[in-house]
Amino acid sequence: MTSQPAETNSGPLGPADAFVFFGATGDLAYKKIFPALQALIQRGQLDMPIIGVAKSGWRLEELRARARASLAENGGVDEGAFAKLSQQLGYVDGDYNDEATFVQLRQRLGNAAHPLHYLAIPPSLFATVAGGLAKSGCAEGARIVVEKPFGRDLESARALTRTLHQHFPERAIFRIDHYLGKEAVQNLIFFRFANTFLEPIWNRHYIDNVQVTMAESFGVQGRGKFYDEVGTIRDVVQNHLLQIVALLAMEAPSRRDQDSIRDQKAVIFKAMRPLDAGSVVRGQFRGFRQEAGVAPESTTETFAALRLFIDNWRWADVPFYIRAGKCLPVTATEVLVTLTRAPQAAFGLVGVDEPNFLRFRLSPHVLISLGAQVKAPGEAMVGEPVDLVARHQSAEASLPYERLLGDALSGEAMLFTRADAVEAAWAVVEPVLGQAAPLAFYAPGTWGPPEAERMIVPDDGWHNPAEAPMPAKTASP
Ligand code: BG6
Repeated sequence: MTSQPAETNSGPLGPADAFVFFGATGDLAYKKIFPALQALIQRGQLDMPIIGVAKSGWRLEELRARARASLAENGGVDEGAFAKLSQQLGYVDGDYNDEATFVQLRQRLGNAAHPLHYLAIPPSLFATVAGGLAKSGCAEGARIVVEKPFGRDLESARALTRTLHQHFPERAIFRIDHYLGKEAVQNLIFFRFANTFLEPIWNRHYIDNVQVTMAESFGVQGRGKFYDEVGTIRDVVQNHLLQIVALLAMEAPSRRDQDSIRDQKAVIFKAMRPLDAGSVVRGQFRGFRQEAGVAPESTTETFAALRLFIDNWRWADVPFYIRAGKCLPVTATEVLVTLTRAPQAAFGLVGVDEPNFLRFRLSPHVLISLGAQVKAPGEAMVGEPVDLVARHQSAEASLPYERLLGDALSGEAMLFTRADAVEAAWAVVEPVLGQAAPLAFYAPGTWGPPEAERMIVPDDGWHNPAEAPMPAKTASP
């Protein structure tokens, strides 16, 4: 049984009146939360108590110093905004197993009736903290924000949801997939549904295949133990990349409310055919087993290439190729939608047999372009490819966490993943978790194992994203 989203149509929650974050002295708070809080203060969106909770034996002054260090390292300190942050900041130091921690938190919350509780802590602590919040009255009227991983397979994802549902209704649970907060991903949805010219071709009749590549040129960056337990399919395919596929493939939401888009995504996740071992190649970069925290005989993948089908009328037989990995030649996430070729090279034109494509560069820059053919200047009827660039932006307009936390504070759940979609996405990858699919090795700095090029390969080959996002040649008016 799939968990049903409770109260999905009861509308947004309305604004929160306090921001509480568990794991306040940890890594996620340092890298992402403090910079997002400063940005929200700059935008005037965080005029409320901000309370950090952790068990570090710290005092408030130490948390303030940590906040300053975090900002200095991640984007810079805005003294005005930092002064406000310092003044609004409170700190509760205590064990999550100790009721007194939550009693103290409730006192600190004062009159706040709709606190947001952000669990920037390992999932193994979710049940304890959710229980502590409920018992102390902190869960009443509250919402809870949790980070991926949402389980490590279908069963554990369901168990996690059951645990959270004991104390919070589904509409009060905000599951962060930071990819959904990216400007480029917002652009992708907008471009798809704001342009009618796409709709007639956005189907199996005109789309030959779709490729989604998430390449990272770095390795596991000291997270060897975590990564060895997780692997690429759990780390980024089940969530970030299937989310991208869902946004590319879903039907247009019919209303503007937050659940219309989430309903359409859930339909697509459920239409994805579960993967089988023959549709996946797993790779491991040479040297992974020597990383600190990684088992010497580890069979965890640091690369995956897979072919996915969506069993509905729009997408039947259109392969969606997904590739992700560490230690690849570049850091870039890109979607390439390749259209079918022209049926004939009319009048013997040279160069018109190249297919058109749409490229969505999602990271680290935003680029949307349409690959077309034009006649090369000169006597001969010879074509040359050009990129018609619809959007090229070199930096994120706002940080994903700033957008997502701002939405969670105002009660807007559209960019957060719902229990039914999370579970349906786990059902897609479940058959190839662990060692079901073959593992091959690759040299760091290459595009994964040669097996990926042999076994899971689009008809016209993999398109490797370039380091520089700007196309070599663009059309001029
Ligand atoms: C995280 C993964 O969810 O996303 C990491 O755990 C990955 O392994 C990261 O590196 C990539 O996100 P971004 O936004 O830095 O491209």
